Amino acid sequence: MVQIMPLNDHWIFTKTNNPTYVFESIQDGQSVTLPHSWNDTDGQGGSEKYFRGQCWYQRILDISHEDLTKRIYLEIGAAGNMGHVYVNGNMAGESRCGYAMFRVPLTPYLKEGGNLITIMVDNGYDSTVFPLMADFTFYGGLYREMSLLVMDEVHFDLMDNGRDGVYLTQRKISPETFELDVHGQIVNESSVLKEGSLQIQVRDEAGKTVLEASSELALGNEAKFSIKSEVANPILWDGVDQPYLYTVEVSVLSEGQVCDSRIIAIGFRTVEATTEQGLLLNGKPVKINGVCRHQDFAGVGNAITKTHMDEDMALIREIGANSLRLAHYQHDDYFYSLCDRYGLLVWAEIPFISIPSTKDPENHNAEEQLEKLIKQAYNHCSIYCWGIQNEITIAVETEQTYKTIRKLEVLAKHLDPNRLTVQANINGVENNSIINSFTDLIGYNLYYGWYYGEIKDLQDRLDEFHRAQPKIPIIVSEYGVDTNPKYHSYTPQVQDYTEEYQLLFHQNALETFDKRTFVLGGYVWNMFDFGSANRNEGGETGKNLKGLVTIDRKIKKDAFYLYKAYWSKNPFVHLAGRRFVNRHQEHNDIVILSNLHHLKVYLNQTLITEINSREPMKIVKDVSLIAGENCVIVEGTDEYGVIHTEEIVLHHAAEIDRNYIHVKPEKEKNVVNWFEKFDLSNAETIELRDGYFSTFDTIEDLYSNEEAKAVFLKYFEHVTNNPFFEVTKDVISIEKMAQLTFYNIPPELIPVINKELNAIQK
Ligand code: GCU
Repeated sequence: MVQIMPLNDHWIFTKTNNPTYVFESIQDGQSVTLPHSWNDTDGQGGSEKYFRGQCWYQRILDISHEDLTKRIYLEIGAAGNMGHVYVNGNMAGESRCGYAMFRVPLTPYLKEGGNLITIMVDNGYDSTVFPLMADFTFYGGLYREMSLLVMDEVHFDLMDNGRDGVYLTQRKISPETFELDVHGQIVNESSVLKEGSLQIQVRDEAGKTVLEASSELALGNEAKFSIKSEVANPILWDGVDQPYLYTVEVSVLSEGQVCDSRIIAIGFRTVEATTEQGLLLNGKPVKINGVCRHQDFAGVGNAITKTHMDEDMALIREIGANSLRLAHYQHDDYFYSLCDRYGLLVWAEIPFISIPSTKDPENHNAEEQLEKLIKQAYNHCSIYCWGIQNEITIAVETEQTYKTIRKLEVLAKHLDPNRLTVQANINGVENNSIINSFTDLIGYNLYYGWYYGEIKDLQDRLDEFHRAQPKIPIIVSEYGVDTNPKYHSYTPQVQDYTEEYQLLFHQNALETFDKRTFVLGGYVWNMFDFGSANRNEGGETGKNLKGLVTIDRKIKKDAFYLYKAYWSKNPFVHLAGRRFVNRHQEHNDIVILSNLHHLKVYLNQTLITEINSREPMKIVKDVSLIAGENCVIVEGTDEYGVIHTEEIVLHHAAEIDRNYIHVKPEKEKNVVNWFEKFDLSNAETIELRDGYFSTFDTIEDLYSNEEAKAVFLKYFEHVTNNPFFEVTKDVISIEKMAQLTFYNIPPELIPVINKELNAIQK
């Protein structure tokens, strides 16, 4: 029978990159417990650069004489981003999928007594391993749990890239009945053919058996199995309202003994996507009230524990979200289990993000990561779609990229014909682009009113998309604004990083989605601030600040409560602006976020107004404050007559509090106006000649000619140290750079550059 033993402690870790550790003990190491990441601080702004490279972990594994009669595997939750496993000096296994679990058979290399296990983990740049470039920290480390699996000779196939080695497929076959297909493969590691059987037992939440089935098996080296049964009238897994789970116990028996078994949760449900009614869960329309989540946390990087994950789930449930985009890679299996348990519909995805491989045109690693994601997360009923790319056309859009996206979609359907496929496009992808025909659903990451355009442009863009693609269901796969809760304003504006601007932005998005059925819903970018080591923005280093909650999960920004007011059924009241204490204006709007409809508002113990409104955001206009301290209290009464209250103290001061204003560092200001030194006054479009350089060539091509390179550097020397530029220069052109707000290239500059480049022969 299988034994699973945690192997998280007694590891020695070192950043000294010394290949002799494959067979020699680490001398200069420190003792660590998994999960562990070496970028716990520098990956979140703790220093200018974060450490990327090869580090080593080592441990002694004691093996008894009896253990040697078993089959022993190492199960590694993940190695970020690549890992090599050595046992007593022998290479035993590797991973190039930094977000997936992997297993290594140890038995061939083990001896009785102490065994040296060494794991080299590498988070350096590899042009064939995704992600190549992204707006988040590529934390290095053995950042998930590790276990030793001690197996009988007969067991489920642990090495098929899957998690359980057993797959549960459910399909509705009549109005009352689901088909349950339990399938997979059994491996017999002895050289003897054995007789055996497979048994399944399905139990409801009360533990009552609702189905039993079995089949006889001849156990050769490998034996495939599939037991199809019918489950009549199951209680449905119906999202957050009723996440009902059955359990399936699957056992393989040989010679009267259970050799291996799994207990897997399953929820019976159907999911369809329509433009007429939106997403249908069990035939009923459900608007996607979603948030995105990255997996890291302050102070530990991505080396999070179950306690961190429980805390995240509690916050996600508190706002009343019904769906999650688990971006931009495979998350810990435990987190998908939490989603099953609490009824959140999940968009799961791979890190085929930003740019395709610069060295492997086939992008094999994306396929590898997709296969692992689908096989390892297959049994989670919460997952409704597989995401196959995110903003992959940011720097280059070619036939080759299309080919890969199509290939990934075919692979997803082959591995799992019963789930939807989806992509998250960057806004620049044209509504009628061929990309939009590649998957069942289309997501767009839309940052109108942050990186470009105005807040209200969101509406027009979605309507235009629908006119162009009336049959394609669309999801707003990301939208959000960086917000530092220490900044405040009476007149919130784009890029001011204030809590007030975040509220305006999200209020508009919520109204926009609610009014449009063809929009399946949206995913806030992001539920939590997250580590993005190369950022230095909005008064913080190393972090993307678009979260509704700070990276330490300590501050719920006002926008958190806006969502709660829209989505949650749990009665509450919240007064926005509690951190905007010092008010230099006498007249102030009091903003209340609440899902209650009858409220009383008091200022300095005097009732100033009663509100009867179903709006989630209620505003009491022009409340005049007295000099000094003012106490504002809101009281809301719920349907049971219970009173919910909140209080804030506002200080009316004569002077504006400058701490509330984000002042851009001088350096940044210069970068913003970098083009002013060039004369753009008489820029005219020129007819481009073939055989000469132009802004359509990749930077790599420009660099191949000294003259063309000089022209490029004349204009863009200031970006060449940027890590994003570094990894994209092989594929990006000046034309593409001009589409990215990041480079801030005025359109008039393009013909000016072309005049110079197009004079240089190739
Ligand atoms: C992109 C991207 C995210 C990124 C976000 C942002 O759309 O998909 O990974 O963090 O924008 O700029 O905040």
